[in-house]
Amino acid sequence: MKCRINFSGRSIRYTDEEIAVAVEAMRSADPLTQGRYMTAFENKFADYQRVPRGSCFVTMNGVSALEMSAQLCRFKPGDEVVMPSHTFTASAYPYIKKGAAMAWADVDLHTRVVTAETIARAITPRTKAVVVVHLYGYVADMPAIAKLCQERGLILIEDAAQSIGSELNGQKAGSFGDMAIFSFHSHKNLTTLGEGGMLYVKDPALAALVPALRHNGHCPYDFERLDYWKPAMGNVDMPILEGEFLQPNNYCLGEVECAIGAKLLDRIDRINDEKRARALAFIDALADFPELEFHREATRRHNYHLLAARMTQGPEKRDNFIRAMYGIKSVKCVVQYIPLNRYDYYRRLGMDKADCPNADTFFDSMVSFPFHHWMSEEDLHYIIDSTREMLAYLR
Ligand SMILES: Cc1ncc(COP(=O)(O)O)c(C=O)c1O
Repeated sequence: MKCRINFSGRSIRYTDEEIAVAVEAMRSADPLTQGRYMTAFENKFADYQRVPRGSCFVTMNGVSALEMSAQLCRFKPGDEVVMPSHTFTASAYPYIKKGAAMAWADVDLHTRVVTAETIARAITPRTKAVVVVHLYGYVADMPAIAKLCQERGLILIEDAAQSIGSELNGQKAGSFGDMAIFSFHSHKNLTTLGEGGMLYVKDPALAALVPALRHNGHCPYDFERLDYWKPAMGNVDMPILEGEFLQPNNYCLGEVECAIGAKLLDRIDRINDEKRARALAFIDALADFPELEFHREATRRHNYHLLAARMTQGPEKRDNFIRAMYGIKSVKCVVQYIPLNRYDYYRRLGMDKADCPNADTFFDSMVSFPFHHWMSEEDLHYIIDSTREMLAYLR
């Protein structure tokens, strides 16, 4: 059935000026990958994040950044990673592929992200790293979590895939941890033509390994060559870290995507601010319907990548609501982020045991509304009016 308002797979529309930047890169970039646009994007991104230049690396998507962060953890058999159970599967499986087991942490029922307390409960003597996901675009309590990880000697990684531009105490999501990843996928508030990502690595010694790790192990020779073509254009090598042989990848992003990514950094704060203003208007317009509990955050701590609510009257009421919105109002709401321990994939791996009641409660009653940035005011008000009408109808 074609809906009046779909859950769009595309977050933003490009301006003519942004399209012109992409066209110019298509005309002039040489090479079409790993050239000046990549360097410019990485530098501008580092400046935006207020982290040192040389610590941010463009990747072909968020997962490839996660895979490299997992490689840099150098897991040994038995190592565990603390991971929120309520997140997208891509937050977790790259660490499993690199040898870690998951220890699921619960989320706060209201903010839907992990806390220092829920993380502390999941830590065991085998824990090597903690992954914090700023889900829906909201920054978790990073000062408390960073303190905990420091005290326990754990690697702290931020999955900031959904939270570009969000900040806490003036510090950007993805700049608190030892590493962070970002996604520029089609759904995200900043998208580099559908796919793209970024890896941040705080330790300069580890960061220095990323270009070769990202690009086939290519690196310069460590001796002066008399002829630039001998023995070949470049060397291939990867270091052995703590007895672990890092394996190379090819996770680069093209120049046109990098050009558009750099250009969008000029507009990302405006996109986020506009989404937040709309989210607050949406939430406030439903204040007299306690059936839906939203997470209201009026500061830049939330970029409202997604607009999610919990049906306080439980799963059956939630299902009736989504059914009515779809069948009567032609608005497609969805349900997102099955607690990962409930997927067959994690069950087959023996990672189906979790003590995460809030994640289960939230997921079983959650509603995610269509909330793309390019939605018209008319459509936004249609969703609000429809929501009010359907909630009243279901009372
Ligand atoms: C929380 C989270 N982590 C990781 C990813 C993976 O990013 P990508 O799709 O760019 O690989 C996504 C999004 O897709 C995500 O939402």
